[in-house]
Amino acid sequence: MIDNIGKISEEARESFASVGSSDKLEELRIKYLGKRGIMATLLKEIGALDNEHRPAAGKAINDARRAISSYFDEAKARLDTVISGKSRVFDYTLPAYPFPKGFLHPCTQVMDEIVDIFVEMGFRVELGPEVELDYYNFEALNTPRDHPARDLHDTFYISEDVLLRTHTSPVQVRVMEKVDPPVQMISPGVAYRRDADVTHLPMFSQVEGLLVDRGVTFGHLKGVLMEFARQMFGENRKTRFRPHYFPFTEPSAEMDISCGVCSGKGCRACKGTGWLEILGCGMVHPHVLEMVHYDTEAFTGFAFGMGIERITMLKYDIADIRLLLENDLRFLKQF
Ligand code: DAH
Repeated sequence: MIDNIGKISEEARESFASVGSSDKLEELRIKYLGKRGIMATLLKEIGALDNEHRPAAGKAINDARRAISSYFDEAKARLDTVISGKSRVFDYTLPAYPFPKGFLHPCTQVMDEIVDIFVEMGFRVELGPEVELDYYNFEALNTPRDHPARDLHDTFYISEDVLLRTHTSPVQVRVMEKVDPPVQMISPGVAYRRDADVTHLPMFSQVEGLLVDRGVTFGHLKGVLMEFARQMFGENRKTRFRPHYFPFTEPSAEMDISCGVCSGKGCRACKGTGWLEILGCGMVHPHVLEMVHYDTEAFTGFAFGMGIERITMLKYDIADIRLLLENDLRFLKQF
């Protein structure tokens, strides 16, 4: 029996020394040191020996048990350093840490989608500065200093002539200054207004559009924007154009889509009207074209501008615009 114990102990030493994973280590521990393991079974067998041999066998088993426990401790310590990364040995059998996959912010997704739709229709992407001159933000857009429409913009002024742009419309002017017609551009970007409540943010995103060419009519404007609405919101939504006022377009309109919540019957989301406003648009005012020295006899154009946060809210039925900025993952993960 004592010979046998020596063999078992030696075999255990080799097994623990070469074990490579915590699962295998646990298997070995149960095999040798468990309640019904090899050592426990040997101890029970002592009872069958005669009195003379019992003490020596008992001592041999206890010694072997202590030795095997220490092999186990060594193996465990070795694997623990592997797991905590203090050693270059790597336990490939460990499960990987869960790795959360990232995704784009819902507003970025909507912005990309809008840009894709217009690029497909032949619009070029143009960008402009967020810190803008009064001239481009207002003056060249037919909104001189004493114009009442300026009051609607709640402008952040940096100095008398410099401000944070209140819309992306100034990019129209910057582009027309640079290139001769025809022009067909969109301009995605950020704008700023001193405004903050459930439907307004002080910093928000817009996509601006402009098309100037010979013979451009309001019919072209409607065709482009209805196709945009169809692609963005689906076949089932109706659109309508309502007369409106913007200093830089004449005539001007706002475009509505039928409410997706109540299918146009009237509900809280559409304030009982059955319609939701999605953008402003119109035929470029001849003064704006004159400011960039375009021949207003030969060329006409249309323009439009839309708020990305607003369109995101409509698309996903979000009640409070501020949710889009709080970066709460429980909210963002739904998109
Ligand atoms: N700039 C306008 C705004 O921020 C939106 C807009 C309306 C842009 C009509 C346009 C347009 O280009 O033609 O409210």
